[in-house]
Amino acid sequence: MKIAIGNDHAAVDMKREVVQHLTDRGIEVINFGTDSYESCDYPIYGKKVAHAVADGKADLGILICGTGIGISLAANKVKGIRAAVCSETYSARLTRKHNDANILAFGARVIGPGTALDLVDTFIDTPFEGGRHQRRIDMIEDPEND
Ligand code: RB5
Repeated sequence: MKIAIGNDHAAVDMKREVVQHLTDRGIEVINFGTDSYESCDYPIYGKKVAHAVADGKADLGILICGTGIGISLAANKVKGIRAAVCSETYSARLTRKHNDANILAFGARVIGPGTALDLVDTFIDTPFEGGRHQRRIDMIEDPEND
């Protein structure tokens, strides 16, 4: 499995912990940055990770900013991306099972590193259930439902 990861200046330390954790698990990580504490614009990193996942260069993505919200909004503008902001494992599990979310987002100013690593493990270890959920996912992209 290959994971694309990206973050803004609010989440550099949290991102490092997640990268270390994934690497310890033997999972390949593509780090799109930022690795600087200098203030930056989260949409840049949200879009980079989103395109890597949408283009099949990574299986799943992880995005972290202060809240997880701004960076997920940016990622969700890319066709085929379903980025879900989570702060507890029930949502992280269900967004894989039912929504086939392909990017997990969370806030470095919202949760601690212990919860973050639990979210990451839950997200990447939970498969999509398919079935009736696929129809609903198809409806998200279908202009007939606008
Ligand atoms: C940066 O200060 C902050 O706005 C950003 O990390 C994020 O929380 C936006 O949604």
